[in-house]
Amino acid sequence: MDIPFDPQDVSRLLLDWYGREGRDLPWRQTRDPYRIWLSEILLQQTTVAAVVPHYLRLLERFPDVNALAAAEVEAVIEEWAGLGYYRRARNLHAAARIIVEQCNGTFPDTLEGLQALPGVGRSTAGAILSIAFDKPAPILDGNVRRVLCRLFALRQPARCSAAEKKLWSWAGALTPEEQAHDYAQAIMDLGATVCIPSRPRCQECPLSRLCQGFCLGLQEEIPVSGTKKPVPTVGQVAVAISCSGKVLLLRRPLEGMLGGLWEFPTSEMLPEEKPETAASRLLTDMVVQGTPVAAGRVRHAYSHFKLDLYLFRTEVSRPAVVSEGENEWVPVEDLADRALHGAHKKALAHFDVSINIPNTESV
Ligand code: ADE
Repeated sequence: MDIPFDPQDVSRLLLDWYGREGRDLPWRQTRDPYRIWLSEILLQQTTVAAVVPHYLRLLERFPDVNALAAAEVEAVIEEWAGLGYYRRARNLHAAARIIVEQCNGTFPDTLEGLQALPGVGRSTAGAILSIAFDKPAPILDGNVRRVLCRLFALRQPARCSAAEKKLWSWAGALTPEEQAHDYAQAIMDLGATVCIPSRPRCQECPLSRLCQGFCLGLQEEIPVSGTKKPVPTVGQVAVAISCSGKVLLLRRPLEGMLGGLWEFPTSEMLPEEKPETAASRLLTDMVVQGTPVAAGRVRHAYSHFKLDLYLFRTEVSRPAVVSEGENEWVPVEDLADRALHGAHKKALAHFDVSINIPNTESV
């Protein structure tokens, strides 16, 4: 394979840069494989800023793999609330049980051993091996993928199968034998802070001199986009039904999407149905007597569809009895502490105003 520069130049420049500019992140103060594994799972498809508070809370509640394995999966999902991609929380918990039950609580320290854990793919295994065990292993997460596409001026979509093979082989060729711990984090940091998706900061990049994309002036064009499948939009209504300072929440069934998380009563809109009609229908189906009042609109993106959520509120004089599934009338001041899933967390911000939840921050 042709590499238009010396791979050792890349790692040396990156490591120097990381020594000066690397970020001080909570999981960088440890070599504990449990903590590093936890951070890597959280960081899959999620930004550092969103991850940090969840990471700290999860560690407080589950300080080691034994504590995590001993917990109920619902407790893990609760701490995950709002982060999305909840399958990660289930996999995390399942992997903890495997480590405790099948590996005597000791973390695997090989690529094969790590990849055998639920939720740990080739790139995450490479990251854990490098960061926790200082063993060189290539990484190809979204940020590294972009860095390599530009560095090698790849003019193919970053996720097509032809690109995949080249990218893994470049990632392998650039990974140095020494300082695996720092190199892994350096290349991920470069992608997150300098070689960013739009308007990359090439003037600040330690690799710009070697970067084929930059030298050809193609840094804004690369990675080239593939043809994306259109993502459908689903319309739903959610109603905050309140009664004497409490609001009705329902819990989603454990199995299935967003399982175990809480939400306001929700219904999908029928084709051509108006949001107000769907909200009235929802209340009628629940045998709740109330008039839905519009309270805003929230949009939320999932991996396979977009949600367009119309919000309503209604006040009732008697708490309705809901027969199906787990449900609870929750005092308005406790709503923010509930494990609501992301779209309904956003909804809560709208309801905050319309159902007069006291603003605890300003009290
Ligand atoms: N993205 C994935 N893993 C990361 C890490 N260890 N540091 C920063 N960003 C990351």
